[in-house]
Amino acid sequence: MNTICNSKIREIFSPVYYRVWDKGYEFTLCLVKKIIDRTSITERLTGNLVSIRELISKLNFVDESFVTLEWLLNFAVDGGLLVRENNDTNTYYSISEHCDTSKFYKNEELIEREILAMDPTWKVFVELTKLIAGDYALFLRGEKRGLDILFARDRINYWNDYFCNKFNGYTAFNLLGAQSVISILNDHTNSKILEIGAGTGGATEKLVFLLKAVSLIKKIEAYVFSDISPIFLRYGNRILTSIIGDEFFYDTRKLDFNFPLTEQNIDKESYDIIYGVNALHVSKNLLNSVKYIYEVLKPGGSLVVCEYVRPVNGFPLYMEIIFSMLDSYTNVATEEACRSTYGFLTISNWYRVFNTAGFNKIESIDDSLGVDNFKRDKMAMVMRGIK
Ligand SMILES: C[S@@+](CC[C@H](N)C(=O)[O-])C[C@H]1O[C@@H](n2cnc3c(N)ncnc32)[C@H](O)[C@@H]1O
Repeated sequence: MNTICNSKIREIFSPVYYRVWDKGYEFTLCLVKKIIDRTSITERLTGNLVSIRELISKLNFVDESFVTLEWLLNFAVDGGLLVRENNDTNTYYSISEHCDTSKFYKNEELIEREILAMDPTWKVFVELTKLIAGDYALFLRGEKRGLDILFARDRINYWNDYFCNKFNGYTAFNLLGAQSVISILNDHTNSKILEIGAGTGGATEKLVFLLKAVSLIKKIEAYVFSDISPIFLRYGNRILTSIIGDEFFYDTRKLDFNFPLTEQNIDKESYDIIYGVNALHVSKNLLNSVKYIYEVLKPGGSLVVCEYVRPVNGFPLYMEIIFSMLDSYTNVATEEACRSTYGFLTISNWYRVFNTAGFNKIESIDDSLGVDNFKRDKMAMVMRGIK
């Protein structure tokens, strides 16, 4: 995998990509400013240091909103809207006196125009986050669940656009993951591949497309597209039928990585490559899931995950304006040694999970490889564990 050359990563994570990415941060900050104003958080925090629990009680938010509220406040701290103070037992927030907050309202539309001028495929991000931000008050007050906000009937199509290679902000992950699998296949004879948490099939589509382009498609002996959701299996079937033809055997399977795969009709030591893009971080118990995967890999086989990563634990990522509302994203087992936060992990957390699950040969690459004088926070990583 280390043979993926810097130029490939540079191609995926180009300077334009990063410019748009950074604008996405600014845009999210505008939305967060609007949310904290509309929900009276700004009013409460002006001149006062307030804890999250106090805020929940004073503003009649529901206890279940704690994690999302914590993300919101920490992101506002990162963006300079709020300040945070810790004592031994608690964390308090207040409005930052040094921030010229009037600029955010003016800038939202301008930033939106700049984003779309640089890369029109970001329309899905802009529109989806605006809709979701508009519902934040309802979520904090417990009047709507995250699931209902994100997957409301009129928003379903956005998800297909978000994950399915029509949004360059996400396609980068599918490309990086696909290049990694290809570099492994280069050194192998025929391989059986199992894709986990395959969702709407964006990663599958990119991988098969690139395999055809580099004439490696014949090295696939079998491909299994799996997900916990039967709806996504229909997407998978549609994609695989349309792009693969009869070049190799493929199948779609309902698989839940929260449970042993060997109890779901997957034989021990039966796959050469198990692959997932931004899927495994939602496991209820990540270490167990990676152990279940280890069991069904052939000796010498590889687990390849491509994931969005945090630079350090607790760092609020701006894409979490969307995902922190989901119970399935936040409600996972955490513990200090392997996984100290919900959602996306750090690279060192991933390393420890792989290592503890039994992989003693582990390789990883991340987007810093392609960028001169890399200063930004890492965001995309591929980790490969070899059994
Ligand atoms: C963020 S999506 C990523 C989908 C796809 N890999 C992509 O990159 O477009 C996470 C996927 O994991 C699936 N998932 C969630 N929990 C799962 C579980 N316990 N077992 C298998 N898949 C699961 C979801 O249904 C969803 O399709």
